[in-house]
Amino acid sequence: MEVKTSLLDNMIGVGDMVLLEPLSEESFINNLKKRFDHSEIYTYIGSVVVSINPYRSLPIYSPEKVEEYRNRNFYELSPHIFALSDEAYRSLRDQDKDQCILITGESGAGKTEASKLVMSYVAAVCGKGAEVNQVKEQLLQSNPVLEAFGNAKTVRNDNSSRFGKYMDIEFDFKGDPLGGVISNYLLEKSRVVKQPRGERNFHIFYQILSGATEDMLNKLKLQRDFSRYNYLSLDSSRVNGVDDAVNFRTVRNAMQIVGFMDHETQSIFEVIAAVLKLGNIEFKPESRVNGLDESKIKDKNELKEICELTGIDQSVLERAFSFRTLEAKQEKVSTTLNVAQAYYARDALAKNLYSRLFSWLVTRINESIKVIFLYKVMGVLDIYGFEIFEDNSFEQFIINYCNEKLQQIFIELTLKEEQEEYIREDIEWTHIEYFNNAIICDLIENTGILAMLDEECLRPGTVTDDTFLEKLNQVCATHQHFESRMSKCSRFLNDTSLPHSCFRIQHYAGKVMYQVEGFVDKNNDLLYRDLSQAMWKANHSLIKALFPEGNPAKINLKRPPTAGSQFKASVATLMKNLQTKNPNYIRCIKPNDKKAAHIFSDALVCHQVRYLGLLENVRVRRAGYAFRQPYELCLERYKMLCKQTWPHWRGPARAGVEVLFNELEIPVEEYSYGRSKIFIRNPRTLFKLEDLRKQRLEDLATLIQKIYRGWKYRTRFLLMKKSQIVIASWYRRYAQQKKYQKIKSSSIVVQSYIRGWKVNRSVSCMRILIILQLNKNIYYWREFMQKYFLEMKSKMPSLSPIDKNWPARPYLFLDSTHKELKRIFHLWRCKKYRDQFTDQQKLIYEEKLEASELFKDKKALYPASVGQPFHGAYLEISKNPKYKKLKDAVEEKIIIAEVVNKINRANGKVIKCHCLIPKVSFFLFQGSGAAGKGDFLFSSDHLIEMATKLYRTTLSQTKQKLNIEISDEYAIFLSFLKGCVLPCSRLSDGKNCFPGPSQVWL
Ligand SMILES: Nc1ncnc2c1ncn2[C@@H]1O[C@H](COP(=O)(O)OP(=O)(O)O)[C@@H](O)[C@H]1O
Ligand SMILES: [Mg+2]
Repeated sequence: MEVKTSLLDNMIGVGDMVLLEPLSEESFINNLKKRFDHSEIYTYIGSVVVSINPYRSLPIYSPEKVEEYRNRNFYELSPHIFALSDEAYRSLRDQDKDQCILITGESGAGKTEASKLVMSYVAAVCGKGAEVNQVKEQLLQSNPVLEAFGNAKTVRNDNSSRFGKYMDIEFDFKGDPLGGVISNYLLEKSRVVKQPRGERNFHIFYQILSGATEDMLNKLKLQRDFSRYNYLSLDSSRVNGVDDAVNFRTVRNAMQIVGFMDHETQSIFEVIAAVLKLGNIEFKPESRVNGLDESKIKDKNELKEICELTGIDQSVLERAFSFRTLEAKQEKVSTTLNVAQAYYARDALAKNLYSRLFSWLVTRINESIKVIFLYKVMGVLDIYGFEIFEDNSFEQFIINYCNEKLQQIFIELTLKEEQEEYIREDIEWTHIEYFNNAIICDLIENTGILAMLDEECLRPGTVTDDTFLEKLNQVCATHQHFESRMSKCSRFLNDTSLPHSCFRIQHYAGKVMYQVEGFVDKNNDLLYRDLSQAMWKANHSLIKALFPEGNPAKINLKRPPTAGSQFKASVATLMKNLQTKNPNYIRCIKPNDKKAAHIFSDALVCHQVRYLGLLENVRVRRAGYAFRQPYELCLERYKMLCKQTWPHWRGPARAGVEVLFNELEIPVEEYSYGRSKIFIRNPRTLFKLEDLRKQRLEDLATLIQKIYRGWKYRTRFLLMKKSQIVIASWYRRYAQQKKYQKIKSSSIVVQSYIRGWKVNRSVSCMRILIILQLNKNIYYWREFMQKYFLEMKSKMPSLSPIDKNWPARPYLFLDSTHKELKRIFHLWRCKKYRDQFTDQQKLIYEEKLEASELFKDKKALYPASVGQPFHGAYLEISKNPKYKKLKDAVEEKIIIAEVVNKINRANGKVIKCHCLIPKVSFFLFQGSGAAGKGDFLFSSDHLIEMATKLYRTTLSQTKQKLNIEISDEYAIFLSFLKGCVLPCSRLSDGKNCFPGPSQVWL
């Protein structure tokens, strides 16, 4: 048969089965074989990776290979699991699409290895840094821990996962891992107490006995001898190429990295030791009076050591192996256990201890790697593979059911939904037949076997595995994928290969015969309450935490959900989870049954290719389209590739895509228009689009950079130009003047400062410039002030206080300074003026000032008095001898002496009188004698002077202010006026009046 060589050079066979011509089962297998023989273990079916287990290490996972596949298009290099990992990771990082990697295949086909390769690739290409590296390490190191406790050697695989694992790796928006969460599915716990021939118990038991130090073994009360432990199968306790002691150290190291504390590790190993030792407890029957056998522990040494290790009260545990307490509502009934029941109880306890410890480990790891905020998720599913043993029990049934479900999701997404979508989208399509295993899933779940099993377990009355089988015979007998000897139509009565206690299911991957024995028990998964209570009472925090139902305060008489229904529920959750993510498939194939390298068994591979539906997969892929996307999303992603659609396309998205594809000259046979999506046939077209987009994005980035840089430098230029103008103007203004030489140099400093300034911080630069300007102003200020004062000096007005002249201000900004200067100058020249006065003049001016304060704007005759100097001594008493008598009459110093006109109040006649005002009293003389007592009414030419002096004298003598009433007109109330001296302005108007003694009316 001729196998067409790929487009890529040096390709062995065909790298992508889609290109295989002609396509047949034979060519398909041959192509796989040819590639396998040349160590090419990966082959594509479109984006699905088919992986064949090489059973030998190949040099294709080195760091150099990681670099080679990093950021490369899927089809650019020869098929590799790294290409798929890269594609998934980039799609997660760049397109924000949650991913899941679905790894399927039989037990031993290489699923676990594949999952580890995916994880290590992602860890290698994602971000770096101390924190990120720690997260990566924790995620990666969770594998050896879980493998030690959850994997075992089986006939199919030396490192067979005996639990299902789904791990979500969580990333931040940059694509750096933040942590993760692991879900585990049903551990095959029956292995703890019994292993099929040629198989081993879980690795950890052998690792601990081989690798622990003597000291540690002593502490755990263990001996370095597998043969001492009943739970360890001896015929295959050593596995070729596996060093349990080395692995033990790896596991301990991994536990440390994941975050287990020393005391936690110690507790875990104590539980492991307790489980091992439980297997060594043996029972013997002891007859009781009622004739029934009661089981007794043969040798209590082992029990004692278990209790010492775990802090359990020995008598409590011993009793729990001999009695069983049944509780129903308020009643408690205790029954003895016979030897078989005691063994059953012992094994149940060992299985429960171990499987609960395993779940606790997963929870504990999750605690270490958990994330609070998650952005993007990549799920990696590595679940136990489809398996067929000689004796298949409940566990295989569950495992195979899980694989049916996985096959179902593969069919749903790649075969069924894709074909249905073509029809829905009006794409021309010829239906491709495939086997849909939904019918088998239905046989197991819903109304099928699991439901029957649950019904049987919950039913009152005697329930055995046989009654369960009977029920199956009734309900499923006619199902085409179910076979049993007793089926209704007796189709299989003659089939002696089918024992009575068995049923057979025709799975998608082959027929499997299940032994019905143990189904009910394992589904019930019951642990006697006495045992769980004994465990809860342990003085061992881990064991106590593993058996919360043993707490008497929390007794729950309700049955816990059965193992089958729990598994069904968790598988359903898993399927839902997977459906929300973008799937990436790795289909693992086992080349031979011997775990041997270089052997390619055509029949075995052919069988797997058939049931995996790989040929149908190729057919759908060939006839179908590699890529489909809603028009809106497609346009959004590639619109930059065409002028009409970039940056905005105004119109229907489909029309935009049409324009885009025409413009890019993509051959019309490469794509089809659906109702709502564009379908691209060849992935290479898609990669071409992606490449163009990448190139265009770089161009656009360059454009943006260019414009930004232009803007940045232009802003800088403008700023510098402006600064230069400011500086230059200042420079020109002052540089020419010699006395401003300093400014010149400072301006040069400023200029060079700004030139040197990194103008990309233009805002700060502007600020600096303003500050510099201010500083400069301060500098100029001194110069200004000097100039200003010098100019002012030459323009000063006269020193006369009444000179109103003042030079105009030279600069607006000196306005307030100029006003202040004017005020200061005025005050100064007033002072200068005052300083010229003699004491006499000062006195006169004081009196004048007093007069002004008293009379200004109050008395009409006041202004006339302003020009008259106050003489006081108008009579020259001391000089003129004619006044000698007057002088003698008044001894004190006289401040006023003058002639006044006294007005007679009776008749209004005017008599000339001499008026003397000494410091303390007041005299009025008529002729040479006193002019009489009482009030006077008189007039004088020096009225203001007299009143002022009188006021000042009174104030200085009596410290009291003389009350002066001032008015220009008076009504005369002569009759009531009594003895008072009244200087009076006018007599003739007849209106002046006389106030009381301390008051002057004027
Ligand atoms: N890519 C590989 N390169 C080398 N050996 C492999 C590879 N994949 C699987 N193996 C070998 O096959 C064994 C079984 O693979 P494993 O992944 O445990 O199978 P599964 O998980 O499918 O049961 C591994 O222990 C390893 O020895
Ligand atoms: Mg595995």
